[in-house]
Parts: sequence; structure tokens; C-alpha cells
Amino acid sequence: MISKTMSDSLTNHLNLELFSANQYLVMSSYANEMGLKGAANWFMVQYREEMLHFMRFYTYLTDQGVVISISANKDVPGSYSSLLEMLEKTLTHERMITSCINDLSEQAVVEKDHATRIFLQWFVTEQIEEENNDRDLIAKLKLVGTNGHGILMIDAEMAQRVFVIPPGSPQAV
Ligand code: FEO
Repeated sequence: MISKTMSDSLTNHLNLELFSANQYLVMSSYANEMGLKGAANWFMVQYREEMLHFMRFYTYLTDQGVVISISANKDVPGSYSSLLEMLEKTLTHERMITSCINDLSEQAVVEKDHATRIFLQWFVTEQIEEENNDRDLIAKLKLVGTNGHGILMIDAEMAQRVFVIPPGSPQAV
């Protein structure tokens, strides 16, 4: 049994995960256009992870008998001056997502909705990893500055990222 308030909050967040996915898909395309194929791969993996997050919320809500609604997506930013800018915007966005997950967890505790609280635990841990990945790349990019060779080395590192479906995930997209 899930309250209407809780299901509305989770549905809002489901839409936010979809927005995140779209944002990273655009960043992948932008990195590709910059000639940074590794970064394009990194953002494509990020896109796929966000779609998986979206599906986790979808599956949880439908299992709880909730009919989801998709809000009209707000425009996804599509112009960046550098890889550093894209990653800084990624980190800012992920910090906002972390804050939303924390708010949802708090709401679940207040409502004594332990099923939702447990469902959200996976996301609490996931956000630590997401922010850490972004911070790591930002630090490296700041070290190399505008040095093309350095940026290409980071791009090569970003090319190594692979999409891994965590155990127990809903059907991936
Ligand atoms: Fe789905 Fe990047 O948090």
C-alpha cells in the first residue's frame, strides 16, 4: 500500500530520471561532435544507466498498482563549450538528484512506508558512486587544462566505461 502523496513524489522523480537520460544522450552526441569518442561512450553508458533507473521506478510503481504519468519533458540543454563544462553540469545535476532521493527517503520514513524506504536504499548508494565518478573526471580535466594531449588521454579512459546491468534489475532498455 502506497499513499497518493508518496506515489506522486515517486512519479515526479521517475520523470526526473527520464530527463537525466535525455540530458546525457544529448551530451553523448555533443561529445561525439567534438571528436571525443570516449566521452561520447561515457555519456551513452550514463544514458543507459539512467534509463535503468527510470525502469526501476516504473517497475516499483506499477508493482504497487500505480499508473504512471510522463510529464512533457522540459528542454534538454544542448550547447557546451568543453568536456569540463559538461561534467561540471553533470555533477551539479547529480547533486540535485541526490538531494531529491534524500527527500524521498525522508518522506518514506515520515509515512512509515518501509517498502519505499528499502526500494530507495539502492539509489542512495548509487548516488555516491555517480558523484564520485564525476568529481574524479573533473579533477583530472582541471589538471590538464586546455592541453589537447591530456584531454585525449582522459577521453581514452572514458572510452573504457562499459554498461553493466546490476543483478536484480528490471528489464533493461
Ligand atoms: Fe539516476 Fe544519475 O541518477
